[in-house]
Amino acid sequence: MKKSSITRRDFIASSTLAGVSVMLGAKALGNSSNIKPLSSLRKIGSLEVSPIGLGCMNMAGVYNERMPKEAMIQVIRKAYENGVDFLDTAEVYGPFYSEEIVGEAIKPFRNKINLATKVGFSFNSNGGFAGKSSRPDSIRKAVDGCLQRLQTDVIDLCYLHRADGHTPAEDVAGAFKDLIKEGKIKNYGLSEVSPAFIKSAHSVHPVSALQSEYSILERVMEHEVLPLCEELGIAFVPWGPLTRGFLTGRFDKNTTYGFRRAQVPYLRKENLEANFKLLDFVKEKALEKNVTPAQWSLAWLLAQKPFIVPIPGTTNENHLMENIGGLNLSFTQNELADIRTSIEAIEVKGVRAPESVHTNL
Ligand SMILES: NC(=O)c1ccc[n+]([C@@H]2O[C@H](COP(=O)([O-])OP(=O)(O)OC[C@H]3O[C@@H](n4cnc5c(N)ncnc54)[C@H](OP(=O)(O)O)[C@@H]3O)[C@@H](O)[C@H]2O)c1
Repeated sequence: MKKSSITRRDFIASSTLAGVSVMLGAKALGNSSNIKPLSSLRKIGSLEVSPIGLGCMNMAGVYNERMPKEAMIQVIRKAYENGVDFLDTAEVYGPFYSEEIVGEAIKPFRNKINLATKVGFSFNSNGGFAGKSSRPDSIRKAVDGCLQRLQTDVIDLCYLHRADGHTPAEDVAGAFKDLIKEGKIKNYGLSEVSPAFIKSAHSVHPVSALQSEYSILERVMEHEVLPLCEELGIAFVPWGPLTRGFLTGRFDKNTTYGFRRAQVPYLRKENLEANFKLLDFVKEKALEKNVTPAQWSLAWLLAQKPFIVPIPGTTNENHLMENIGGLNLSFTQNELADIRTSIEAIEVKGVRAPESVHTNL
C-alpha cells in the first residue's frame, strides 16, 4: 500500500467545518497524488479534534495479544504525523498498559494532541480487576493515576467508562466538575450510560462527549441516544466503528475468534450468516466508490451527524493509513437516503434491542 502524503500541517491548514469530507484512500486509489487533505475538524466540548481518532485499546491486548510498546508508540506517532490528533485510551486497558504507551508516545507533541481516557473501575493491589466504581473518590483517585501514566498535567477529555449502577449521575458529574475546576481535566464524558443518566449528569455540568458502540451494523444508539446528544449539544464518539473489525472484511464464515470477540453476539457463528449480507452490501458500495469497506464504513458514520467522531482501533500502521484514507469520501443526501433504505431492509442478528439503552449497560 502506498503511503499517504498528507501531513498534519496540510490537515490543519485545510480545516473547515464542512460536513463530511474524507480523504480518498491511498490504498484504494493506489495514487497518492489523488489524496486530498482531511478537511474538517469536529468539536467535542472545548476541543477541536480530527474527524477520526485512534483507539488504543487493542494495543494492550483485547482482541489480540498485548502488543510491544515500541511498535505501538510508532503507530501513535504515525497517526499524529498524518493528522489524527485525538487519542482514546482508558486505565482499564491492560490495565494501565495502554495509557503508559500513549503517555510515552505523545511526549514530543503532547500539547498538539487531544487526549481522552476513561476511569470507573477499581483494581486490587496487584493491578487485578476488582469491579466497577463510579464513586467520586474513586474517580478522583483514578484521574491522578491517569495523569501520571499519561505523563501530563491535564487530560483533555475524561469519561466515566461504565456506570457502577449505584452512584447517582449527579455525583459523577459533581466529581468531574470539581476536577475541571482544579484544572486536572478539561472536559468530561460518559460511556454506555442510559439517556436518563446522561440528562441527570448534564444538569449538573455539561457533558462534552458520549462514547458508545455505533457502526452501520450496530445501530441501537440511533433510537434515543444520538437524538439526545444532538438536543443537548453533546459530541458522540462511536467505539467499535468497524464493528470490531467485521466491517473490514477480515473475517469469513469459518473464523474462530480468540479473546473478547468470541463472546460478542453479532459475531457468533449462528448470526454471522445473516450479518454477512450487510457486509456484502458495504463491500459493494465501497467498490462503487473505489474505497475499501473500512474506509466506506467510517465515511458513512461521519456522514450521519457533524458531531460524530469515530475512534477506529488499530495496532497496525497499514490499517491506520487505510482508515485515515477513508476521509474524503462524501455522500449526497440521495445516496445516504438510498443506503438507509437498503440497510433497513437487511436483517442483522445479535445486535442490541432498542430498550437495551435503558437496561443493558
Ligand atoms: N467505551 C467503551 O466501552 C469501549 C469499548 C470498546 C472499545 N472502545 C474504544 O474504541 C476503540 C475502537 O473500538 P474497537 O477496537 O472495539 O473496534 P473497531 O475499531 O471497530 O475495530 C478494531 C478492530 O478492527 C481491526 N482493524 C482496524 N482497522 C482495520 C483495517 N483497516 N483493516 C483490517 N482490520 C482493521 C483492528 O485490528 P488491527 O489492530 O489488526 O488493525 C481491531 O481488531 C478502542 O480502541 C477503544 O479505544 C471503547
